[in-house]
Amino acid sequence: MISLKGRSFLTLRDFSSEEIVYLIDLAAYFKKLKKEHVLHDRLKGGNVALIFEKTSTRTRSSFEVAAHDLGMGTTYLDPKSSQIGKKESIEDTARVLGRMFDGIEYRGFGQEIVEKLAKYSGVPVWNGLTNEYHPTQILADMLTIREHFGDLKGRTLAYMGDARYNMGNSLMIGCSKLGLNFHAVAPKKYFPDKDLVDICKKWAEESGCEIVLTEDVKDGTKDVDAVYTDVWVSMGEPDEIWEERIEDLTPYRVTMDVMKNAQPKAIFMHCLPAFHDLDTEIGRQINEKFGLTCMEVTDEVFEAYQQPVFDEAENRMHTIKAVMAATLADDWKI
Ligand code: CP
Ligand code: NVA
Repeated sequence: MISLKGRSFLTLRDFSSEEIVYLIDLAAYFKKLKKEHVLHDRLKGGNVALIFEKTSTRTRSSFEVAAHDLGMGTTYLDPKSSQIGKKESIEDTARVLGRMFDGIEYRGFGQEIVEKLAKYSGVPVWNGLTNEYHPTQILADMLTIREHFGDLKGRTLAYMGDARYNMGNSLMIGCSKLGLNFHAVAPKKYFPDKDLVDICKKWAEESGCEIVLTEDVKDGTKDVDAVYTDVWVSMGEPDEIWEERIEDLTPYRVTMDVMKNAQPKAIFMHCLPAFHDLDTEIGRQINEKFGLTCMEVTDEVFEAYQQPVFDEAENRMHTIKAVMAATLADDWKI
């Protein structure tokens, strides 16, 4: 029997393929209960802290709804209305929150912060996104791929764009552990860190898949099952970087030609938020400055392939629920 009780969820590096599949199965179980309106508030009386040093729509909503569904209360802490970092160290914050809460979610900057929270709080800590990793997103992505194709092993996912940041890193880890071929399709300087690639290649060998890093869009996306992209400039990166990113990554935009090069039933995936039109403030600013009407994905692709993208968004909630449930209690009857 798999037990994750008491564990933190900081990066998928720490979890075996069996444990990751267990979390995906548990999420599918919770999704079914939710659709059938079956209450599953077994963690009644519990409380979780949600620390967000960066903005969020999906992750915050997912933690709040999931905690509520499980019977727990939530406290939201943002950097402006808490002492975190400025007046109080992470260690002290962790020791305080650990006395009051059953679990702590953290979204913010360096991975070392979430690691420190876990070390000093004494309760499970969940990574809601750091610069390096976004592990809860990968669980939602894998559940979505499995729902769509019925399986995971042997599928191929091509990630286009900045493959050395949280999404590229975490997708490469998730794919290599679960047996999906992972293609990073990007200019060389955006390839994931060599040490991480080497570790993932070992996991890929064990699970029977391949890690491919390529600058060639045609080769990298040929017959793949899923084409994945993310914003070109991530939260916390400086505005000055836009110009360079646009120049470097425009050839790696997901267009209809890219989708046609993938297998006929391929899906388009995006963790969201996405810049596919001019209906955002940043989208309009970039349009005024650089003349672009979309960035990492064309509006045509986004609208034509939107269903799995919003399945991914919904699945954030079910998978985050699974992470909290599994790390706070045992014996979920799947
Ligand atoms: N995908 C994701 O993490 O979305 P939010 O930034 O809205 O939480
Ligand atoms: N790479 C993006 C992911 C957003 C979910 C960021 O860090 O902003």
